[in-house]
Amino acid sequence: MLSSVASYERIDHHTNELCCKPIGSSITDEAVSENSGNCRSQVSLLIHQLENQIRAQEAAEPEKDAKSLTDLVSEIHSVLGLDHGLGDDPEKLKLVRDAMESYSLETGDWIHHANYSGGGYTRNLVDSGNGKFNLLLLVWRPNSVSPIHDHSGSHCMLKMLKGNLVEEIYREGESGSELSDDSDDKLKLTKSSSVLPNQVAYINDKIGYHRMVNPGQEFAVSLHLYSPPFDVCKVFKKETGDSHTSNCNTYYSK
Ligand SMILES: [Fe+2]
Repeated sequence: MLSSVASYERIDHHTNELCCKPIGSSITDEAVSENSGNCRSQVSLLIHQLENQIRAQEAAEPEKDAKSLTDLVSEIHSVLGLDHGLGDDPEKLKLVRDAMESYSLETGDWIHHANYSGGGYTRNLVDSGNGKFNLLLLVWRPNSVSPIHDHSGSHCMLKMLKGNLVEEIYREGESGSELSDDSDDKLKLTKSSSVLPNQVAYINDKIGYHRMVNPGQEFAVSLHLYSPPFDVCKVFKKETGDSHTSNCNTYYSK
């Protein structure tokens, strides 16, 4: 029996057993059984690697006036107010982006949320906001990739904290259109760009769908703001454009 990308990620998240298989490929039950012991060893090694990186980060001295994660959360709350999200207000969008950009990685305080539970990536809730946004920290395993997904009409802002992620943006396009690449895929890759430490990226469904890739040999860590928060999103097949609904309201830590 083949497992889909989405179910694979859910299994990953809860059992830590399928870590040896890159996300985005199909797996068999037989392969799961054969690899589970090796996978657990690999998870242990990866967690050890992450712990070493965290210790190195903790040893670094932050600047005196560096903006902390607590400062960032307070600033976002103050921009959005008690009961508002980003809405379609470009001024708020700019203010929140400025806040995200000025958060200082030198504080190293994000490491307290950098938990990894196995699988391609682990979602940790940093702040549940005012009900109109939430802030998540994602830890990405080396050589991992998310499925292509939308953001349920929400704003998605991402700041790289550690390592690099490649953002691939997809849209539906016809052959010969400006969105065309040379494939027959229904979803066309329209942009691929690296997001480097300290950089902030932004996307919404009008821009396109995306998937994030950690192509490196080390863990990557990213901070995500979603407004409004959403419980489900669509996951797409690049070849056909078909989609199914996937839950995205679970967190490893809160
Ligand atoms: Fe996303």
